[in-house]
Amino acid sequence: MSEKDNFFNKYILNSKSSSYRNMINLCDKVAKSNANVMLIGESGSGKDVTARYIHYKSRRSDMPMVTLNCSSFSDSLLESELFGHVKGAFTGAIDDKKGKIETSRGGTLFLDEIGELSLKTQVKLLRTIENKKVAKVGSNEEREIDFRLITATNVDINEAVCSNKIREDFAYRISTIVIRVPSLKERMEDFDDLLDFMLKKSQKENNIEIKRIEPKVKSFLYSYDYPGNLRELKNIIDRMVVLSEKGVITKQGLPIVHSLGQNYKCDDSKIYPLREYREIKESEYIKKILEKYDYNVPKSSQVLEISDRQLFNLIKKYDLK
Ligand SMILES: Nc1ncnc2c1ncn2[C@@H]1O[C@H](COP(=O)(O)OP(=O)(O)O)[C@@H](O)[C@H]1O
Ligand SMILES: [Mg+2]
Repeated sequence: MSEKDNFFNKYILNSKSSSYRNMINLCDKVAKSNANVMLIGESGSGKDVTARYIHYKSRRSDMPMVTLNCSSFSDSLLESELFGHVKGAFTGAIDDKKGKIETSRGGTLFLDEIGELSLKTQVKLLRTIENKKVAKVGSNEEREIDFRLITATNVDINEAVCSNKIREDFAYRISTIVIRVPSLKERMEDFDDLLDFMLKKSQKENNIEIKRIEPKVKSFLYSYDYPGNLRELKNIIDRMVVLSEKGVITKQGLPIVHSLGQNYKCDDSKIYPLREYREIKESEYIKKILEKYDYNVPKSSQVLEISDRQLFNLIKKYDLK
């Protein structure tokens, strides 16, 4: 399978969520052009994946896509990563080096965390974009260059301009088209598909077969708010699969900080199996009674008209300690 086919099988791109579908439509439209694209969105929402999607949908799809994360290098190293350098340009430049811009010739250059680019390098990159010419560090020889630029950031670009971290002319130039990648919370219509998809993938990768997910784990997964978006969901699923017992996913695998007791609540817009709904409501109510009686078990069990032992078991079941 080609890398491209592999990409389209590796991620869910046909979405049930209108916000995600609108974004994909916009990507399809701009992919055909040569416009510079800026992707904004929370960490883990899929900006890298979206950049690659645009590349594969563009006329440049058979040419390279080169990715560089601007936060991974010191300023001078970043400049040389981008533009390359000639032998002797600075101490340690023992050979000529090709930069990422040249490597992306004819294709796409994806610069992640663009807000980390120094002002000096912004000027240099702006010149390259405007003149379509690139020169290695330490050389005056300019070569013609053609590439599509995609940038990504999870910082507010207007704010970065106001605080002089990003030059206005540069910001203006690289944001011809701004595409916002929705957070996972904004596309919960896709949650079941994503869960299914990631679960299958994780079972395969870990060579573990999952038969069942405990209902309370499922309710947690639906109600949790995923600050780390799809990346966090993938991590949670991987952990749950690895920590599953005899093919059953238990709350073992859930992140401890997200104790079930606190997140265990119903989302009113969702449909639940009746048993699951009863369990959720039951746990909420028991929690309320326990709080009312200061976690005094005999008093609480008395008003609930169950035995102390039954109440203990429910406390254990719903993690209400
Ligand atoms: N459309 C998708 N379908 C399935 N998984 C996805 C999708 N988009 C992102 N992911 C998962 O989320 C992770 C983070 O995506 P990434 O594009 O790196 O996010 P960002 O660059 O916004 O931080 C990916 O490694 C992948 O596991
Ligand atoms: Mg990223």
